[in-house]
Amino acid sequence: MSQTSTQNPLTVDVGEVATAQPCTLVIFGGSGDLSHRKLLPALYNLALDGVLPTNFAVLGFAMDDYDDERYRAFAHDGVAKFSRRPIDEQHWLDFQRALFYVRGRFDDGAAFQGLKRRLEEIEPKFGIPGNRIFYLAVPPSLIRVCVQQLHAAGLVNREGEGPFTRIIVEKPIGHSLASAREVNATLARVFDERQIFRIDHYLGKETVQSLMVVRFGNSIFEPLWNQKYIDHVQISVAEEEGVGTRARYYEEAGALRDMVQNHILQLLCVTAMEPPWSMNADVVRDHKIEVLRCLRPLTGKDVETHVVRAQYGPGYHHGVAVPGYRREEGVKPDSTTETYVALKVFVDNWRWAGVPFYLRTGKRLPKRASEIAVQFKPVPEILFNLNPDAPLQPNVLALRIQPDEGLSLRIATKRPGPKVRIWPVRMDFRYDTTYGDQTPEAYERLLLDVMAGDATLFMRRDGVEASWTWIDTILDAWARSGARWLPEYPAGTWGPLEADRLIESDHREWRTL
Ligand code: BG6
Repeated sequence: MSQTSTQNPLTVDVGEVATAQPCTLVIFGGSGDLSHRKLLPALYNLALDGVLPTNFAVLGFAMDDYDDERYRAFAHDGVAKFSRRPIDEQHWLDFQRALFYVRGRFDDGAAFQGLKRRLEEIEPKFGIPGNRIFYLAVPPSLIRVCVQQLHAAGLVNREGEGPFTRIIVEKPIGHSLASAREVNATLARVFDERQIFRIDHYLGKETVQSLMVVRFGNSIFEPLWNQKYIDHVQISVAEEEGVGTRARYYEEAGALRDMVQNHILQLLCVTAMEPPWSMNADVVRDHKIEVLRCLRPLTGKDVETHVVRAQYGPGYHHGVAVPGYRREEGVKPDSTTETYVALKVFVDNWRWAGVPFYLRTGKRLPKRASEIAVQFKPVPEILFNLNPDAPLQPNVLALRIQPDEGLSLRIATKRPGPKVRIWPVRMDFRYDTTYGDQTPEAYERLLLDVMAGDATLFMRRDGVEASWTWIDTILDAWARSGARWLPEYPAGTWGPLEADRLIESDHREWRTL
């Protein structure tokens, strides 16, 4: 595929990068894992790129017994271990000056008064006009108390009343439709919807954003992007790791809630949505929600025939023996939490009528690989496609979300020689060879967008509730089935046989990732 360099005058900039506004970012759970691995390294990389606002500070708020100095050491450790670019000590010195820490419990009104005093000290020093972003990097059970305390402490300005207040909430938003509604109602009592940024970090991934450009920036795909030309779509998110240290959370969640309700349905929305007429946050989100509304509900018996769930058993990870899920630390020995799920779903609208979308995700699969693959219909069985025993390979457009980010298109070519021999080739575009630079982490883009007040890549309340509405009927059917065990797949393999049957009974097969 011919590749256009970023320096090339053909590069087209569409719109401006929204400008991050001066603010203080307060991280609830600032000494936790998400801050250590993702948020602080993301902020450091934004600082390296010079895109953070000049008037900016970070205030970690949590129960650990840290002070500013220890918090800076904690942040240094996180950046040194997890930043996509090596730490540069000179830049670090500049960056760390804006890092602060307040110790406190989230249910303690006095701690929130302490937080407020600290903000009032820091803001004038950094020339910050009182704009505040509260990032709730805390377990979902703490969202309510944090929101109530923020309100009680007078730390929330309503939209349009003085300096801005924004709140970021991490998934999971609820555990079911009812609990998601409760979380949303709790937030809505104190914040306007425009102040709420619900993170789905998959939407911050470059490759996911790029899918919109591929679809709507090229005239050759969109005319074919419908049931007339597309045979089916596969969306796969494979993970190598097992449950690790997150059993407490994962036991209550499982793959359907953890990955499908949010990340995979979002990928489906971006793949299946109608062309939005603007990149305005509400326009894009309205179009995505339409897809969720058109998802054919899976209820009762459909769940048995369209959804496969399974659990990893003992097996191997890079040649090393690893335990099955039920033997992992913190997991109940008779757990029925699924670590793998595969689904066949339909988007019942004019564009997608009859086109199956096969979705799958699992932990402890042979490798980490995520892709969206659009398989086109075969050519007619005439001319080059006459032999039913050796059908021509259909065209496939595959977007590799991670790793090895890129895009490939499989097309039939003639092998040189006197006979007509047809060979499928893969035209391949790779981000790293074309654009060189390492791709920014999803959290970099998302944090910057919150500072700029751009909610395009965030979940709106109705979107979260629409996706839970669809997921809930599957959860209900599972709960009613009363299953005491799930099919097992050995750790380090591509999931259970049942998942192969799900797609093979339609005379199709899972792609090799
Ligand atoms: C999180 C899930 O949202 O996404 C994890 O809770 C999962 O279980 C992770 O491992 C995957 O994210 P990524 O960016 O590594 O694909």
